Amino acid sequence: MNYFSRMQEKFASLKDKKEVIILSIESSCDETSVAVVKNGREVLSNIIASQIEIHRRFGGVVPEVASRNHITAISSIFEEALSEAGIKKEDIDAVAVTYGAGLIGALFVGINFAKALAYSLEVSLIAVNHVYGHISANYISHPGLIPPFVCLMVSGGHTALLRVDDYNKMKMLGTTVDDAAGEAFDKVARVLGLPYPGGPEIDRLAKEGEVKYIFTISKALKNTLNFSFSGVKTEVVNLVHNKTQRGEEVDKADIACSFQEAVTDELATKAIKACKREELKKLVVAGGVGANSRLKEKLEFLCKENNIEFYSPVLKYCTDNAAMIGSCAYFMLKDGLGLAPLSLTAKPNLDL
Ligand code: KG4
Ligand code: ZN
Repeated sequence: MNYFSRMQEKFASLKDKKEVIILSIESSCDETSVAVVKNGREVLSNIIASQIEIHRRFGGVVPEVASRNHITAISSIFEEALSEAGIKKEDIDAVAVTYGAGLIGALFVGINFAKALAYSLEVSLIAVNHVYGHISANYISHPGLIPPFVCLMVSGGHTALLRVDDYNKMKMLGTTVDDAAGEAFDKVARVLGLPYPGGPEIDRLAKEGEVKYIFTISKALKNTLNFSFSGVKTEVVNLVHNKTQRGEEVDKADIACSFQEAVTDELATKAIKACKREELKKLVVAGGVGANSRLKEKLEFLCKENNIEFYSPVLKYCTDNAAMIGSCAYFMLKDGLGLAPLSLTAKPNLDL
């Protein structure tokens, strides 16, 4: 029997296995992370080496620098993940890895490590879509959460509303027609001279300001579940430039607060609209922008008002981490999905 046929057999046998231990790897951007996840919801370890400090001086992620740092970090992060989980290599049932979307060089570091590990241990290699991983972060934080629900996906690269009917069955209800919410946060932060990554900085600064400016969100999409954030982003950029040219003070906190109000209003309103339209009583938020305190506040309030259950991952699982990839892989293998050959390659533009 050839290698892949053996893997197919092993993969199929995991479906009915009572205890499945997945070693998962995430390296799509500037976090090198390795986790050990049991049965999709129990995190035995989740080690994250963040490169934020390294990229901060460049004002954003430099892809080549990210790849090199993943290479330096990954072996020791892997050893740490095993040791913290208290398991041996031989206990691993499958290796899961993010294969897209993300930075191509960064993805390849994780993929190649995962391939070598899976091959040497003779265990299945599972390819995971990073964005679906973000949704799974909620299965870790909320052991009782099961589909169906509406998911508001708000990361640096994606902004979408999804109807999640089952772990591996979902439908897009709406998406951004231009920038992702996280992209807008990062761009506005940059123009305000805040350090990378911008989202958490705006979140923090907004608390010191008030809504002084009314930024407009595209009216053309009012009756849809689609989003547009490039207009509001451009309004902020123009406001800051005009103030600077006129020699006026740039009231950063008020601008941050006004921008955040506009974006989070739009996200929260449409998320509730989606729940009503789909007649679903559960709303789940996923992705880095899901860490935004004002967005969570609004979603919590609106969900309560509309008798909808609200779920968001605990902060450490909101932004990039390998545990969410291990969780996602578990629910994929239970449905017989995701087994990858050793020719697996990175998909930088992988979509939902
Ligand atoms: O999901 P994520 O960690 O990576 C991607 O898959 O893209 O999301 C990163 C994005 C960045 O744009 C970052 O600025 C944003 O999430 N972010 C936040 C907050 N924390 C992270 N945006 C707003 N408020 C936050 N507290
Ligand atoms: Zn992410």
